[in-house]
Amino acid sequence: MSGIDPLVGRYEIASPGEMEEFGDRVGRMLRPGDLVVLTGALGAGKTTLTRGIAAGLGVRGPVQSPTFVIARTHPSLVGGPPLVHVDAYRLGSALELDDLDIDADRSVVIVEWGRDMVDGIRDSWWEIELERELGGRGADTMCGDPSDALDADAPRVVTVSRRP
Ligand SMILES: Nc1ncnc2c1ncn2[C@@H]1O[C@H](COP(=O)(O)OP(=O)(O)OP(=O)(O)O)[C@@H](O)[C@H]1O
Ligand SMILES: [Mg+2]
Repeated sequence: MSGIDPLVGRYEIASPGEMEEFGDRVGRMLRPGDLVVLTGALGAGKTTLTRGIAAGLGVRGPVQSPTFVIARTHPSLVGGPPLVHVDAYRLGSALELDDLDIDADRSVVIVEWGRDMVDGIRDSWWEIELERELGGRGADTMCGDPSDALDADAPRVVTVSRRP
């Protein structure tokens, strides 16, 4: 067992605050060289989760959606590894991710939208998938503007798995 192997499984996360708390647990278990890929639709909570991971690791914030930069490095405040937060949304290919020249051995790397992008950075990594809960009062069963529904506190289903 290493990294977040003990967290492999499926979780119901009721609110943004709970998502940050879950991230805090993740962050406290991550070690230098660990890579985590976050997948999920726009607004699923990937950045919210990363904010909790940053707190658990004890790195300097703030963690934001990187609008103008593709990768942001958050140095540790506690003598641990830095957090490299990558938003791969606008990246065309894994090759470009290589080009970012990340010091993956010494960092904890979190990649939003990174599925299919991370082959070659590490031999193995974790994927955390975030989904809106189906069948509840989620956006899928509501009328009106779906973006309103996504902004409201709404449960998410979070699945942690080991890759490949
Ligand atoms: N259970 C929940 N967990 C996480 N976020 C939630 C939850 N319920 C509501 N939210 C809200 O959903 C939004 C998630 O935004 P966030 O930026 O974290 O998503 P994202 O997946 O990073 O989006 P993007 O694809 O644009 O990067 C926030 O406004 C947050 O408050
Ligand atoms: Mg985001």
